[in-house]
Amino acid sequence: SINDIQIIEIPKIVDHRGNISVIEKEVLPYEVKRVYYLYDVPSGAVRGGHAHIEQAEFLIAVSGSFDVILNDGTNEKKVTLNKPNKGLLIPKGIWRELEDFSSGSVCLVLASDVYDEADYIREYANFKAQK
Ligand code: TYD
Repeated sequence: SINDIQIIEIPKIVDHRGNISVIEKEVLPYEVKRVYYLYDVPSGAVRGGHAHIEQAEFLIAVSGSFDVILNDGTNEKKVTLNKPNKGLLIPKGIWRELEDFSSGSVCLVLASDVYDEADYIREYANFKAQK
């Protein structure tokens, strides 16, 4: 459910020459099998618009900011990501939409499995019907 969504703080190594954030295996409850990133998002665009059957994803605004609208079929919640050292853990079975991307923003995603179209629910009506 929406209560299983977590904001996870990513360890940060502060340095006047620039900071480093590191994600090692204790940060996430799964082994990362895929990394992708969303960038060059035009203003006003909406991404996501799906749920995963089994996969979990961890989203980080490594640059800029964007909003994530989360829905478990009953409750909705909006999370703004705008820090490179704070990520959003989305468990399986959550509908998500990404919107309000700032110019130059980058959304880094660490996924629990390899790309598999069969793991997507891309129609909200189907998502709702399965709940
Ligand atoms: P999609 O899941 O619709 O993007 P988003 O939810 O971020 O708006 O993916 C867009 C296209 O990219 C779609 O044709 C599937 C493809 N794709 C891959 O081939 N591999 C991947 O790991 C991802 C995330 C997408």
